[in-house]
Parts: sequence; C-alpha cells; structure tokens
Amino acid sequence: MKKKIVVLTGAGISAESGISTFRDSDGLWEQYRVEDVATPEGYQRDPEMVLNFYNNMRRSLFTKEPNEGHRQLVRLEEYFDVTIVTQNIDNLHERAGSHKVIHLHGELTKGRSERNPDLIVEIGDADIHVGDKAPDGAQLRPHIVWFGEAVPNIEIAAALCEQADYFVVVGTSMNVYPAAGLIHYVPRTAPCYLVDPKAVPISRPITIVQEKAGTGVKKVVDMILRDLMK
Ligand code: APR
Repeated sequence: MKKKIVVLTGAGISAESGISTFRDSDGLWEQYRVEDVATPEGYQRDPEMVLNFYNNMRRSLFTKEPNEGHRQLVRLEEYFDVTIVTQNIDNLHERAGSHKVIHLHGELTKGRSERNPDLIVEIGDADIHVGDKAPDGAQLRPHIVWFGEAVPNIEIAAALCEQADYFVVVGTSMNVYPAAGLIHYVPRTAPCYLVDPKAVPISRPITIVQEKAGTGVKKVVDMILRDLMK
C-alpha cells in the first residue's frame, strides 16, 4: 500500500509557465477588480464582460506549458499515492502528467449551466458567449467558483488531508478559505513542506524551501524520496 501525499497548489506553481498570480505586485487583482470578474454579482451586472474575461484567460492558457514545478510533482507518483488539490483553474497539472487532480475553484476548460451547477460540460479552448446554452437550455457560464459561491470539492479535499502521510504546499499565499484551512486537517504526525519565494505564515511545523517552484519543488521531492528510502 503506497503512502499518501496531498499537494496543495496555488497560482505560484503556474507563475513560471507565464500565468500571472493574483496577489503578487503584477497580480491579476492589481489589474481587475475581484467584484467585477470573480463574483456572481459582477457576472449578473455584465455577463458579456465577465465571459470575455474568462474567454481571454482560456485562450491564453492554450499558449502555456507546464513547468518543472508541475513535472517534479509527477515524479512522486512512482512511489506514492499522490493527489494534487489545486486552487488553480488551469490544466497544467493534468498536462504535466498528474493523474489525480482536484480543482477547488473550478476549471477554465469546463462550462456549466447557470441553473444547475452540477451540469458541467467540457469546452476545451472554446469561448462562451451570452446566448450559448448548457444541455438543460440554461445559459452556459464558466465552471469557475466565484467568491461567495460553494466550493463543492472541499469535503473530498479535507478527507484526503486527514489521510495524508505527507503534505506539500506550493505557490499559494494561503489567503483564501476554505482552501487555506486544509492544512489543519493534516495529521500532526505528517511531515509538511512549503515551496514559495516569499515567506508564507503557517501555523504548524513545516519545512520551508524559500524558492520558486521551478527549482524548489525538486528539492522537496528529493527530501521526501530520501525520507522514504531511509
Ligand atoms: N513559484 C512558487 N510560488 C510563487 C512563484 C513561483 N514562481 N511566484 C509567486 N509565488 C507565490 C507568491 O509568493 C504567493 O505566495 O505564489 C503565491 C500566490 O498567491 P496568490 O496570488 O494569492 O494566489 P493563490 O494563493 O493561488 O490565490 C488563491 O484566490 O483569487 C482567488 O480563486 C483565486 O485560486 C485563487 C485564490
């Protein structure tokens, strides 16, 4: 039976792939107001503007590639039962080769019915426009969890954290809940690691690699593999 690893990732792991983070100096929330493009109210106010915001982000995603940070996490799968719990809406973990990826905040390559949040359809790199319909005839919208909306996968993620033998955090400022609260479900006996070029306040013992994901994730993977081979 393989030991279990849960990896919580945020925008920082995709930064070196050319996808901007949210709260760094050049972050998305420096260019756009959250309330305009990441809330149900903003979408109701101006659906076409919000749909185009995600259309542009979706098109841009298909010009990006996974980076060494994503790829190093795949290395762990040979020896461990690995689940990536990501706050990211990009598909770079999947394209790097990770097999178990749980998206907490939705996925750019999927759309869903405005009427039924469980009616989710794969849209790939296609745009969504006002008038596009989901299979139930309701307006199609991005399958993105906006602020104030339910985070459907949080229960699964918390249950996985409770079973984790190792916990790794990469590229998240741990500002947004409930994602940031997942670390509290991890058993105290499980070694924790964090990769981030900035200092991120964490309220439990954790091994910090204060580097970018492109180099830092390999260091954590090497540490965990050495620990396993002991
Ligand atoms: N490698 C690793 N970490 C990095 C890198 C890098 N190259 N560049 C930046 N970081 C770190 C930053 O230091 C910061 O701690 O990534 C983190 C990014 O934090 P945020 O921009 O807040 O992104 P994130 O934590 O993913 O935001 C969580 O907020 O707006 C919502 O839904 C959105 O999922 C997002 C959530």
